[in-house]
Amino acid sequence: MSSRVLVTAALTYANGSPHIGHLLEAIQTDVYVRARKLAGEDVVFMWAADTHGTPIQLKARDLGIAPEELIKQIHADHLEVYRGFDLGFDIYHTTHSDETKFHAEQVFRAIEQAGGVETREVQQLYCPHDQMFLPDRFVKGTCPKCHSPDQYGDNCEKCGATYDPTDMKEPACSLCGTKPVLKGSEHLVVPLGKHETFLRSWLAKEGSTQLQESVRNYVMTWVDGGLRDWDISRDEPYFGFEIPGHPGKYFYVWFDAPVGYIGATQKWCNDNNKNVDDYWRSTPADTEIVHVIGKDIVYFHCLFWPAMLNAAGYTVPSRVQVHGWLTINGEKMSKSRGIFISGRAYLEHLPPAYLRYYLAAKLGSGQDDLDFNFEDFVNRVNADLVKKAANLASRCIKFIGGRLGGTLGEPADDAAQLLATAATRVQEAKDLYAAFESGRALRKAMEIAEDFNLYLTNAAPWKLTKSDPERARAICSAGVMASKLIAAILKPVLPRWAEQLETMLGLPAPLTFANAAEPLPAGLELGKYTALAEPIDIKKLEAIMEASVPKPPPEPEPERSFDYEVEPLAAETSIDNFVPIDLRVGLVTACDKVKKSKKLLQLTVDLGPLGTRNIFSGISQSYAPEELVGKKVVVYANLKPRKMRFGLSEGMVLAAGADDTAITVLELHDRARPGDRIT
Ligand code: MSP
Ligand code: ZN
Repeated sequence: MSSRVLVTAALTYANGSPHIGHLLEAIQTDVYVRARKLAGEDVVFMWAADTHGTPIQLKARDLGIAPEELIKQIHADHLEVYRGFDLGFDIYHTTHSDETKFHAEQVFRAIEQAGGVETREVQQLYCPHDQMFLPDRFVKGTCPKCHSPDQYGDNCEKCGATYDPTDMKEPACSLCGTKPVLKGSEHLVVPLGKHETFLRSWLAKEGSTQLQESVRNYVMTWVDGGLRDWDISRDEPYFGFEIPGHPGKYFYVWFDAPVGYIGATQKWCNDNNKNVDDYWRSTPADTEIVHVIGKDIVYFHCLFWPAMLNAAGYTVPSRVQVHGWLTINGEKMSKSRGIFISGRAYLEHLPPAYLRYYLAAKLGSGQDDLDFNFEDFVNRVNADLVKKAANLASRCIKFIGGRLGGTLGEPADDAAQLLATAATRVQEAKDLYAAFESGRALRKAMEIAEDFNLYLTNAAPWKLTKSDPERARAICSAGVMASKLIAAILKPVLPRWAEQLETMLGLPAPLTFANAAEPLPAGLELGKYTALAEPIDIKKLEAIMEASVPKPPPEPEPERSFDYEVEPLAAETSIDNFVPIDLRVGLVTACDKVKKSKKLLQLTVDLGPLGTRNIFSGISQSYAPEELVGKKVVVYANLKPRKMRFGLSEGMVLAAGADDTAITVLELHDRARPGDRIT
């Protein structure tokens, strides 16, 4: 066992607020750290925000603020959300810090002095409008392989091909649409091939580095396929650190990002009177460095990073632990499709404990993808935490408090075997946690709860309050002891649960894996039971998802202008004004022009059981008579008949139009029956 352990989670990129995928990793790391601390090891969790690079530079530009201001705001947001999830990191620093700058320069100079940095003339796409070299992701164009349009400059989402942005057809700057030009620039590169011997030994199966087998295998295929030169410089304007000795050149964000792990440690050491060299100028035998990452950034952590550290004389990682991808209800997260959960929205609706439990219960040491399924979440929390673990503690503590004077006794003899098994499970859980098997560790806690809920049901202490209260006390005291062992297992995942139990049991020292099995003294006065978990409703999750997806701001109504005026609107009326008007379905059976009238048509309209009507209508400039025959129209049927020059008009056919030559008769569907009232 090494004397100290340094653990990191990947540094969250500072262009947005943490989402549930980030939290998966953060919770996995936190649980691992807390468990090893509970096992009595000297462990620190060093963390920071990753703050450099083009996306941040451009986001700040869009917002009209300096990138320094943007990353300050986002750092504060990260810190608040991560604290809200009870993450026990020892520091959440930033890569935009003197400490990271210092170590990035150290690492660079060491590699450069050893002849490990070369210059290359690199031809890159440059946007003459934005006056900057365009990173691959900022070029859009047509895939050179399958000719799908609108693809990114590094790979095609349609056919999966990877290519250089310079190979694209019709490339365009994704910021302004301008056609980029090829422009040469001198770049600093680290030829990784020079580090092949070291990398092979670091990756070796028989070596000391702990890697998941599948990860080791695919990293080895990269090494076998030939190690490429790594381009570590970017031209200004670039938000980052200028490379010492190379004015106008900046470290590519992925060069100083992992150095942020060291920068955070440096800062924490400064503030806590520790020596950074104990961590970073040590050996894996003395100092274990463990990185927890997602599978998209393996290349950086398993090739570039160990090579950089080794070349510069820093401690190389002992373990890189890769987790899978989180999906929501079986779908890939996507803000635009509304499949997204932000940490902040979650915290507004539910306590952090449930997410911590759910994710830790699903996580193992593999790198399979993991689904956040709403129903499964609710079932898991309600079944495990509420019905099993909290129920056991609540039954026993409340029973002793309510019926037996609140004093604990010796645990019953017939529970001794179960308690011994439970104590073993705590030790097994400790080892499982250290192997990133939190799901299996938590199973151990649930097994204890299942055993003891069954024991309680069979022993039925509530039947013994009068006849044998001491037996009842012994049974429940065993249950309380079991709850203590369960709390020890839950503690890395649910620190607040453990704290609550420590208070209820008045424990003299915080729970650890080592002291969990120490017996509770008979005669102990138990505190009042405080709820450990409460059932949740699936509606909460739906609300969280709703709240996670930013609503687009309502489009402002464009100011409209008109070159004509209309009559002002008449006074407002109620629907009642409409009721006296009796509208009926009418079938036009005949229609003729009216001689000597420019506007009028004469219609014969059948109202079914109500008879036929003769109606004059001023629509002859819009309809030829034969067009109307056979149509079902709307008739204002209780309109007082009106004597006109050409005859009696017995109603009105509803029609509307802005002028006489563009009138439309309101027409009804085929099923309308002549005479039916229209509502
Ligand atoms: N800034 C880099 C890491 C630098 S480490 C020196 C980065 N940042 S990130 O914010 O994009 O991602 C941070 C971590 O979250 C990564 O390990 C990434 O794999 C993980 N995840 C991001 N989305 C995820 C899911 N949907 N599911 C699981 N993990 C995911 O990469
Ligand atoms: Zn542009």
